[in-house]
Amino acid sequence: MPLDAPAFETPLHVGRPNIGSRERFLERVNDILDRRWLSNDGPLVRELEERIAERMGVRHCLAMCNGTIALEIAIRAVGMRDEVIVPSYTFVATAHALHWQGIVPVFADIDPDTHQIDPVAVERMITPRTTGILAVHLWGRSAPAAALEEIAERRGLELIFDAAHAFDCTFAGRPVGSHGRAEVLSFHATKFFNTIEGGAVLTNDDDLAERMRLMRNFGFAGEDNVIHPGTNGKLNEVSAAMGLTNLEAIEEVTATNRENAEAYAAVVSEVPGLRALPFEDSDRNNHQYVVLEVESGSQEVRDAIVARLRENNVLARKYFWPGIHRMQPYRDLYPHAGLVLPHTEDVARRVIVMPSGTAVTTDDIRTIGGILAEAMESAQ
Ligand SMILES: Cc1ncc(COP(=O)(O)O)c(C=O)c1O
Repeated sequence: MPLDAPAFETPLHVGRPNIGSRERFLERVNDILDRRWLSNDGPLVRELEERIAERMGVRHCLAMCNGTIALEIAIRAVGMRDEVIVPSYTFVATAHALHWQGIVPVFADIDPDTHQIDPVAVERMITPRTTGILAVHLWGRSAPAAALEEIAERRGLELIFDAAHAFDCTFAGRPVGSHGRAEVLSFHATKFFNTIEGGAVLTNDDDLAERMRLMRNFGFAGEDNVIHPGTNGKLNEVSAAMGLTNLEAIEEVTATNRENAEAYAAVVSEVPGLRALPFEDSDRNNHQYVVLEVESGSQEVRDAIVARLRENNVLARKYFWPGIHRMQPYRDLYPHAGLVLPHTEDVARRVIVMPSGTAVTTDDIRTIGGILAEAMESAQ
């Protein structure tokens, strides 16, 4: 089709930043400059933390400079060490956050239907050195929280969730934030809700929250009074201004995302050999990720479809390919990991994540449907 011109003149991106009212953001930035309070537990960071904690129905929201540092702080604060079980089918930061703390990430396979970590596989990977499970609510869908909580309790393991994709989601009616000891959000620019760079840890555990509050600010308990090892995990005021502004727009972004997800599901249902990952309608989802799967299981077909979309300026992504276990340093650490991760290997070869968000219209999605149908036909 696009030998002459691409179907879209302007590229359509996955994770194009969602930005609320420019005027409200600039007003807030002006106030910050007037106050000359740019960082260190500023009033906007506190307001953002309060609003998020209230929305998610959780006792503590600790805002941080990004999701990776928030993960590292949560991992240390709950006392994980030695080996921790984690999925390989996720963004590399999930495993890096462990590795960076001197902890060995042990990869467990996923459920091929939901792409979530499989509790049976988790149990299989437990050794005498295992101290915890770091699960991921991939695509803003629920990890099997109840089964993981049961395993953690029975085997005496710590359990935390990487909820980087799950801002504002509910799982079986429970909002993100109350599963395991803590749940970690990312507010990166590409996420459903962003503070440019940022993240947070949500927890209902008062002692844990206090420890993480110290850890994110060099261990300071007051001026000149360091009482704990720490790092610099603080969120700045301009980022918090972006967060407060974007928080005012999330219903609108969710509605657009949802409309787009439904439009994609409709066009994909007309393309034999492709399926859109479904979502539980009973729960609230941010619909940030539109995840398609090539059912044939062939990487060549998937790659050909992505290439055809890209020729047309539809910049779809092969998330999370090739799987963390195939990236360094994990490839050297576990050269044969693929043998125990058959579903991870298979899903990573078949997934395509599509552009969505406010820059993509349902008309665009109808055009994309045509490209998908034509690409699928010629790739097989
Ligand atoms: C699943 C997952 N975990 C962790 C992160 C790291 O978050 P950040 O980029 O805010 O450090 C991301 C996104 O970047 C992610 O998608």
